Amino acid sequence: MKHADLGEEAGMEVITFTKDTVLSDIHLHIPHKRHLMVRLNRVGQPVFQTQFKILSKESASQSAKEDCVSITENEDIKQLNESGSLPFKHTTQNDGQVIEDLLDEDGDLEVQRRPRCPSERSGCQRFDRDVVCPTILRIGCDDQVEEEEESSNNNEVVKIEHTMATPLEDVGKQIWRGAFLLADYILGQQDLFRGCTVLELGAGTGFTSIIMATVAKTVYCTDVGHDLLEMCERNLVLNRSFMGKADGQIKVKELDWLKNQLCKDAENPYSWTEDDIADFYDHTTVIIAADVFYDDDLTDALFKTLSQITHALRSPSTIYLSMERRYNFTLRYMDVTCDAYNHFRNCLNNFETTANGKQRWSAKEIQPVFPQFLSYEREHLELWKITSTPLD
Ligand SMILES: C[S@@+](CC[C@H](N)C(=O)[O-])C[C@H]1O[C@@H](n2cnc3c(N)ncnc32)[C@H](O)[C@@H]1O
Repeated sequence: MKHADLGEEAGMEVITFTKDTVLSDIHLHIPHKRHLMVRLNRVGQPVFQTQFKILSKESASQSAKEDCVSITENEDIKQLNESGSLPFKHTTQNDGQVIEDLLDEDGDLEVQRRPRCPSERSGCQRFDRDVVCPTILRIGCDDQVEEEEESSNNNEVVKIEHTMATPLEDVGKQIWRGAFLLADYILGQQDLFRGCTVLELGAGTGFTSIIMATVAKTVYCTDVGHDLLEMCERNLVLNRSFMGKADGQIKVKELDWLKNQLCKDAENPYSWTEDDIADFYDHTTVIIAADVFYDDDLTDALFKTLSQITHALRSPSTIYLSMERRYNFTLRYMDVTCDAYNHFRNCLNNFETTANGKQRWSAKEIQPVFPQFLSYEREHLELWKITSTPLD
């Protein structure tokens, strides 16, 4: 999350968001972003629609090869290779440089950062990708609604309605890179999720649930807030033809980590029916959440929710969590720290060491070396898989 207090730069327009404004960087590499941000700042929170193109498997694998430079063949990678799911086996760079050439005199790996903008890389197929460009759908209710462009191939494009540069309480209306990392993993490992019943926590715009629904049987896509859940539901409608190729269904439901129960309020359009609840507890085996660790109290609440729900599920489940490590300078330490991430790691550790009477949990980081179907930077992103072993 970038605090959008961008200030004045020489010869550029002054951009001043309010201090609690946060900005997902999914759209930071678009052309004319500065102009867009100035407009955004003037008009508040217009609704945008962005079309995210999904690469074909071949292009994604090729892209992963290009992206995965300077990676040593550690245990995780070896395991993945053996399962045949990794797109590469060698630790060579694009130009054929061997891994030994990348070690410094102490034997440490000198990680080469990927260039940030397309012009910095030449001859790289990855940049044949479409640029991710949002179009404004509406500003308030008065402004004209732009014509929705029909995509040439609906099977390759996910259309998402979202806002940008929101206050913290509305971050779910933006799309975060963690959603892309998790989506990439689902797209690359479809057999793991085929026919499953899945719960997504903190689903936001619904992007990852939409991807998951192309392989899963049922996805309980959950979050809090009527307007956010409404936006999420609109995104399902927008992507009917994208999801149409599979039989998966998505049910948008309210699930608040700060409450101990599923919402059954008949007045709430996103409440759970008795049938939903029975199906959910009887069949859910996969739980996913993308980019939900940014506030320590919410992180505590989320882990408590995970513990309660998995205890109540009939079958053992597997949890996949993606996140971004966010570095901030803090006055407290007079240093750059990663507080929210550190708190997540502590909670994860507690989750593993505290048995809930039914199962023991074991967490493992999945190295982000799987094919990349979407266009985004993977820097500072992590994906964790948490598996359970039943206690006798
Ligand atoms: C940074 S956003 C991530 C959204 C989406 N998963 C993504 O990656 O694009 C965090 C999400 O957590 C949700 N959230 C925050 N507090 C929550 C709570 N108490 N119960 C359920 N969801 C919550 C927010 O509404 C938001 O959708």
